[in-house]
Amino acid sequence: MTCILNADDAHLNGSIHKAALMIKNGGTVVFPTETVYGLGADAFNPDACKKIYMAKDRPVDNPLIVHISSFDMLNDVAYIDDDLLNKMKSIWPSPLTLLLKKKNNVPDIVTSGLDTVCIRFPDNKIALKLIDEAGPIAAPSANLATKPSIVDSETAIKELNNRVDAIIDAGRVKYGVESTIIDCTKKPYELLRPGAFSLEDAISILGNVHASEYVEGYNESKIALTPGLKYRHYAPSKKLFLIENENEFIKFISSDKSKDFLALCSYDNAKYARYDKIILGKDIYETAHNLFYDFRLLDNSDKKYGVIQSFDEKGIGLAVMNRIRKASFMAVKDKENIGKINMALYE
Ligand code: TXA
Ligand code: MG
Repeated sequence: MTCILNADDAHLNGSIHKAALMIKNGGTVVFPTETVYGLGADAFNPDACKKIYMAKDRPVDNPLIVHISSFDMLNDVAYIDDDLLNKMKSIWPSPLTLLLKKKNNVPDIVTSGLDTVCIRFPDNKIALKLIDEAGPIAAPSANLATKPSIVDSETAIKELNNRVDAIIDAGRVKYGVESTIIDCTKKPYELLRPGAFSLEDAISILGNVHASEYVEGYNESKIALTPGLKYRHYAPSKKLFLIENENEFIKFISSDKSKDFLALCSYDNAKYARYDKIILGKDIYETAHNLFYDFRLLDNSDKKYGVIQSFDEKGIGLAVMNRIRKASFMAVKDKENIGKINMALYE
């Protein structure tokens, strides 16, 4: 039985306390962060961490992020040089996750045997209080493996009921895409995953951060990276088609060809949709906030397919496009390739 913990003002402290006790006793708890919901357990308890992989059906060679709520906790789990530490003191808490050399007390199950660990200091008051009480929490995003990350508690309850010990019922999260991950074990630092913390801001604070082309999401599976980055995520179950050229997107959604498609589009482009549509948002923040939520709406709709437009890869837009590309069954860039969409419907 999963315990659903009320997060309204009158119950919040009691709920967090209960959740912290469950974690200390080796249980699993779904909790909100500012990015997406996490599925957490005591980072120092290997048996508890094993339960995370089981609850999500996650392959054990895909390591977890360790969540902290203070710089003292950081000292228990990872090595960091003074220069970077000072910079992080001006940034954390925030949705910027660092890959660092791990300390020995972090069990192998958390890092899939790697000698590095992802450290995250989330900017969410429920998460911070929970970690304050329970200690460092190992947590991936709370979705079942291969499903889009969970951005609201209703979906968390639907997807994880009876798979975890408790779920904190705290509504929608702030950003809607996961944290940015930067590998700080090498120089220059390297962007491993674009996310809610903009690459531009990270560079202005940390200095040069190398971003390889793969962050765009192309051919991800073909590139041999750290084990954690080889899995596809974020995808709706239905086939989603990305049309990168805006004119071609507008033409497609206003034509008869789009009859079986749910159009995922910006506020401005919604007026062109001839059939059913979902407005992702008025700006790129709203789009990020709604993206995974709307992938699930696509799956629950009566349309067979989805079609989505592209967005500027600036700020959080880089993460939005990364997630869209990874979620897309096919991306077409120009007019010549639009015909491929119809062919792909029969694959
Ligand atoms: O916003 C977030 O980061 C959310 C919330 C819950 O904090 N968490 C999250 O966790 O997105 P997850 O597990 O879904 O994504 C973490 C990514 C995975 O691709 C994982 O493989 C990678 O980070 N990762 C974790 N530890 C790693 C390591 N030691 N080396 C390389 N990649 C690692
Ligand atoms: Mg995930």
